[in-house]
Amino acid sequence: MSVTEKILVLDFGGQYNQLIARRVRDEHVFAEILPYTAPIERIKSGNYKGIIFTGGPNSVYDESSPHYTSEILSLGIPVLGICYGCQLVAFMAGGEVSTAPVSEYGKIVLSANINSLLFKGIKRKSVVWMSHTDYISKPPKGFKVVGKTENCPCAAMENAAKKIYAVQFHPEVTHSEYGKQMLHNFLYEICGCKGEWQMDGFIDSTVAALKNEIGGKKVILGLSGGVDSSVAAALLSKAVGKQLTCVFVDQGLMRKDEGDMVESTFTKLFDMNFIRANAQQTFLEKLKGVKDPEKKRKIIGKEFYNVFWDVIRNQEERGFFAQGTIYPDCIESGKGDADTIKTHHNRVKMPKDIQFEGIIEPLKDLFKDEVRLVGEKLGIPKELVWRQPFPGPGLGVRIIGEITAEKVRILQEADAIFRDEMAKSGYESQLSQFFAVLPDVRTVGVMGDHRTYEHLIALRAVTTDNFMTADWAHIPYDLLEKVSGRITNEIPQVNRVVYDITSKPPGTVEWE
Ligand code: XMP
Repeated sequence: MSVTEKILVLDFGGQYNQLIARRVRDEHVFAEILPYTAPIERIKSGNYKGIIFTGGPNSVYDESSPHYTSEILSLGIPVLGICYGCQLVAFMAGGEVSTAPVSEYGKIVLSANINSLLFKGIKRKSVVWMSHTDYISKPPKGFKVVGKTENCPCAAMENAAKKIYAVQFHPEVTHSEYGKQMLHNFLYEICGCKGEWQMDGFIDSTVAALKNEIGGKKVILGLSGGVDSSVAAALLSKAVGKQLTCVFVDQGLMRKDEGDMVESTFTKLFDMNFIRANAQQTFLEKLKGVKDPEKKRKIIGKEFYNVFWDVIRNQEERGFFAQGTIYPDCIESGKGDADTIKTHHNRVKMPKDIQFEGIIEPLKDLFKDEVRLVGEKLGIPKELVWRQPFPGPGLGVRIIGEITAEKVRILQEADAIFRDEMAKSGYESQLSQFFAVLPDVRTVGVMGDHRTYEHLIALRAVTTDNFMTADWAHIPYDLLEKVSGRITNEIPQVNRVVYDITSKPPGTVEWE
């Protein structure tokens, strides 16, 4: 895909590198991330309208800390340094950086010179998000201080003639009151962008490029029912219709009716060939007697590909192989470790006996939220586009201990009730992920005059924006009561429901 207007986010190992690129794209300018190890020739030939230096955990004077040749400041391309990137600009341009007498962390008031183009349209005093122990003690020659805080005399500086700007705070995080406006100013006022990155344009140009690349050949796509592969399927269907064959392996461990939903969505709404491999029996046989979580994961993963490649071996004509790889799967890390290429966990390993004309990854430039926008524009139903994350091994990691057909059915029913109540109450929009778990536990209960000894269901619901850490969700008691009442009434094999009140860490989101 060709984009004419591009911003480079040069990654110095900060935790917000992807967030910066996403914020730039929210402003309708394409942003790509390169590690600080990328050679300057690559940057010169990249035709970038501007460069943003990210933050990083280091001190510019550490020998091992990431640096870049100062030639980058003389390319005539506007630069915005953020946090460590700000100190690096100062260091590269001949200023001084030292340990600040008072480190700043959190929300801090910035006094800004609003005559600076970077601060156009913002208030003189506003809240910004700070996180630093070093600061610029002496700005470089040619630079003017345009922002300060109580403990940071140079919280923002500029060399307007050279279009080089640097801010000690993080405009990309939402805690910075006018951060969005500052990034907008950098892109439009300083870099002269026009805002060409629009999802409609992406769809049109990608469809045209796919038509061109695929020609009259076939394409095969593994469809999981997850957001990425679903959107890739819809795009390919728009481009080449029946030349596309989607292969959907139903391992029998999806949520209630989910396999049918995926099948009906893609066969009814989109023009394509659809192959559904119903493999529940095979999976159950392979999983018989297996209790160890990691063994279960391995068996499910291995069997999935066995079934998948067997379907593909049966295709007379193969053509291209398509995948729903997205941008975060492709970004080269700027963490500075020797192994700078991130594991491409979404890219599958192909068996030696299966060959294709080539690999097609139509979403490889998009972030997840952009993938969702494209999905909506292509007419994929909202419940699929906004589907909460669902692990590859499916309910296999939510049934603790041995997996049986009966346990899968019980868990599917309980999970469906939980989802139904969360949807009806509207509470689901406040949750990042929620589901039911079937632990390998039976408890004593009472029903009428009878003693019962039945299954326990655990409910799990979390809020998070990154899944590395998560908080247990404070679902109102009356809602939990409704879910518990329905589960124990509607599923005779369950007589007790508990709610998981563990955050991550120390718990994980899933139970296995
Ligand atoms: P944990 O349990 O590690 O989960 O806190 C974090 C996120 O990852 C998902 N998850 C998985 N996804 N295969 C997947 O594709 C897996 O084996 C797997 N285990 C956990 C989990 O659902 C949550 O969104």
